[in-house]
Amino acid sequence: MTATGSPLPLLVLGQGTDLHTERGVECPGDLPAPSDPALVERARAAKAALGDRVFVLGHHYQRDEVIEFADVTGDSFKLAKEAAARPDAPWIVFCGVHFMAESADILTSDEQTVILPDLAAGCSMADMAAINQVEDAWDDLVEAGVAQETVPVTYMNSSAAIKAFTGRHGGTICTSSNARTALSWAFEQGSKVLFLPDQHLGRNTYVRELGGSLEDCVVFDPHRPMGGLSVEELQAAKMILWRGHCSVHGRFTVDAVETARREIPGVKVIVHPECRYEVVELADEVGSTEKIIKTVAAAPAGTKWVVGTELNLVKRLGQQFPDQQVSFLEKNVCYCSTMNRIDLPHLVWALESLVEGRVVNPIRVDEQVARYARAALDQMLALPGESHKD
Ligand code: 13P
Ligand code: SF4
Repeated sequence: MTATGSPLPLLVLGQGTDLHTERGVECPGDLPAPSDPALVERARAAKAALGDRVFVLGHHYQRDEVIEFADVTGDSFKLAKEAAARPDAPWIVFCGVHFMAESADILTSDEQTVILPDLAAGCSMADMAAINQVEDAWDDLVEAGVAQETVPVTYMNSSAAIKAFTGRHGGTICTSSNARTALSWAFEQGSKVLFLPDQHLGRNTYVRELGGSLEDCVVFDPHRPMGGLSVEELQAAKMILWRGHCSVHGRFTVDAVETARREIPGVKVIVHPECRYEVVELADEVGSTEKIIKTVAAAPAGTKWVVGTELNLVKRLGQQFPDQQVSFLEKNVCYCSTMNRIDLPHLVWALESLVEGRVVNPIRVDEQVARYARAALDQMLALPGESHKD
């Protein structure tokens, strides 16, 4: 609903839709102007000059202008695996956000360098769990006498330091694709899980996929003493959810789903599990970015979709499947602003710098941190079944 209470019109996406022209570029050095008409040509020329020495990865939420130059596209986990599978490329240019580039650095060899074209491409969710806060929270769990039985399960959307914490405490990383498998594994190791940093993915997976109860879940607020919880609450809880969320997916509302159902008869609502529990409960389908793409791709012509995930991806779905009707779930939700930091000028700058023999914006995880973070990532790869499902 709008501030005045009237329902928001749905945004139907299709070929030629141009929704956003805003640019916020700030970068040291000789960044090309966004208006430079030669940018596409310059990116092509730089890539051609670098040949197999560079490998460009593009996350599904990236702009079209960037995706055009990606050697492979995917979700965060697929891209990390792709980076690891390219040992011959000395330079991996990661068009995504900081935590993804860190994971790629952890999983690639010392001879390879991962480059993030704009260092301002962070993730607000990952920033909601700082390592000192998480260490303090663990001390609280020790004090409450529950740390021994608690297994940390950390979403990929987290800093390398939090991944290392997870590795040190015998936990695992998960993605939105394999959170169910990761949680099942964790509950075989201990009776409680500390889920970091996305409360929604943790809650949705525990309640909807493992059949757990909402009453077993507590939210640990790092800004309050003892997370704002009593010792009794910590002792009774099975899922201790970190108070973090995605600033994009957390904004989709029940109202938007109800409006879609009212305005588009027969519509199918598909959302990412980072959305709030109430929103996910009302959806027809829930899934990671890879699953959303595959589900829409497999649907018969004429299917009407309303999609609750990042706008660049939804916009592309509308372009790729013009025989289906793809709409964005909520008009007042914008692009992920940090994903959008990577634009063609930054990509050209990173590539042309490499051509000139300069490595800009390398992402290097400290070796001690990387060692334990790798343990947590390896635990994810060793989860029963397979390492990565949609
Ligand atoms: P994926 O794990 O699907 O790549 O999602 C990453 C992300 O940032 C979702 O908001
Ligand atoms: Fe982070 Fe959300 Fe952006 Fe994904 S969409 S990178 S979780 S802020």
